[in-house]
Amino acid sequence: MADLSQIKGINARQIKLLQENGISTSEALAMSPSNIVSKIDGLGDKTAKKLIWNARNALGMTEFIPAGEIDDNVEFITTGSSELNRILGGGFQTGKLTEVYGPFKSGKTALAHTIAVTVQLPPKKGGLNGSIAYIDTENTFSKEKIKRIARRFSLNPKEVLAKIFHARIYSSDHQSQMIQKAETLCKTRGVRVIVVDSLMALLRSEYVGIGSLAPRQAVLNNMIHGLSRVAETYNCAILLTNQVAVRMMGMFSGNDAIGGNIVAHGCHFRVMFKTKGFSSNNSLMRRAVIVDAPDLPPEECEFFITSAGIADTDKVDLPETSGLDFEVEKLYEESDDTEVAEDLKEEENSPLVEVKGIGKGTAESLKAFGISTVEELLDINPEELSAKMSGASPNTVRNWQKNAKILIKT
Ligand SMILES: Nc1ncnc2c1ncn2[C@@H]1O[C@H](COP(=O)(O)OP(=O)(O)OP(=O)(O)O)[C@@H](O)[C@H]1O
Ligand SMILES: [Mg+2]
Repeated sequence: MADLSQIKGINARQIKLLQENGISTSEALAMSPSNIVSKIDGLGDKTAKKLIWNARNALGMTEFIPAGEIDDNVEFITTGSSELNRILGGGFQTGKLTEVYGPFKSGKTALAHTIAVTVQLPPKKGGLNGSIAYIDTENTFSKEKIKRIARRFSLNPKEVLAKIFHARIYSSDHQSQMIQKAETLCKTRGVRVIVVDSLMALLRSEYVGIGSLAPRQAVLNNMIHGLSRVAETYNCAILLTNQVAVRMMGMFSGNDAIGGNIVAHGCHFRVMFKTKGFSSNNSLMRRAVIVDAPDLPPEECEFFITSAGIADTDKVDLPETSGLDFEVEKLYEESDDTEVAEDLKEEENSPLVEVKGIGKGTAESLKAFGISTVEELLDINPEELSAKMSGASPNTVRNWQKNAKILIKT
């Protein structure tokens, strides 16, 4: 990314004006439409056009290039489901806008949460080591869900939350404003994904009736084009979730994404999420359908919503600590990693901490139930202990016993 100061003929005042309006790099300016830049107070039409032209010149955007030299540096982010990744051509793509639409409970917010974590994974595990801007128009962002997903992917929940930049949105103009602001985060905070969950909720409630359709579409158009430019400038992936309206076709009904052609044509990938049958409560299995994509066949797949995000099955492996979330959180909140390691070292005299999945706090809780040695742990009935000890499910206890047996054998 090149600084604005590198643009020929630009002065400090103009740089400041552009930055105040969310344009902070040469690339961002070069990709901006001149009629929008011209509207910046104090810049003027002629200057705006001149600066944009100079930025485009410097970036080689004013020449045609042989197609072989096109820079298509696409990167993929795992969705948490290998099937969903497969039909998306490898995962959620950078540089592009992806619209995911579907009825309520179909998994749109679950996907947004999963991506918020997986983008933070290293590339060899399906991420980009990136952070995310999360534009939340429905107040459905959940820190608890994020922490569970983080644990599923063996990431530190506290560090994961620190790399999610969240904005709760209250009106459509607020939404436009924060979309603009998210661009700055791409530059300064390593944001590689922008989520808008959901795109239309506020617009739908603020612009009611046929008479308000034109102004609503104008606002939407600005948002979509702004995001498209950011996606390209910063090779950032954009996830827009969208609601549906039911369309009746004689005896049958179908779901249409709302937002009309502007959203439909503005997004590179359109994916429909479906619930099974009429009730989404019978199962957490969902279907995804590629409705539109530049170079993907119209495939479908199944995926599941789990307590720790989108997955291929209805159960995901949470680390051994599952069922003892409270303890893990306490450890993360109270101490950094070195302190945790030291805590454990101090406890070396308690044989139970040698068992995988049992930390200092759990060893102490177990002591209160008369279990202080590995042998005593193996003797107990998992169901009975689980009934007495809060946070320890029978499965968790069985896991401890399994690990204790391994310990004895080694
Ligand atoms: N902890 C959990 N474990 C398993 N399933 C869960 C959990 N939390 C939520 N769900 C399921 O996830 C579904 C909700 O998914 P999600 O919030 O992603 O839907 P959505 O498509 O965003 O819906 P909406 O249009 O209402 O925003 C519900 O069916 C719910 O049962
Ligand atoms: Mg939702």
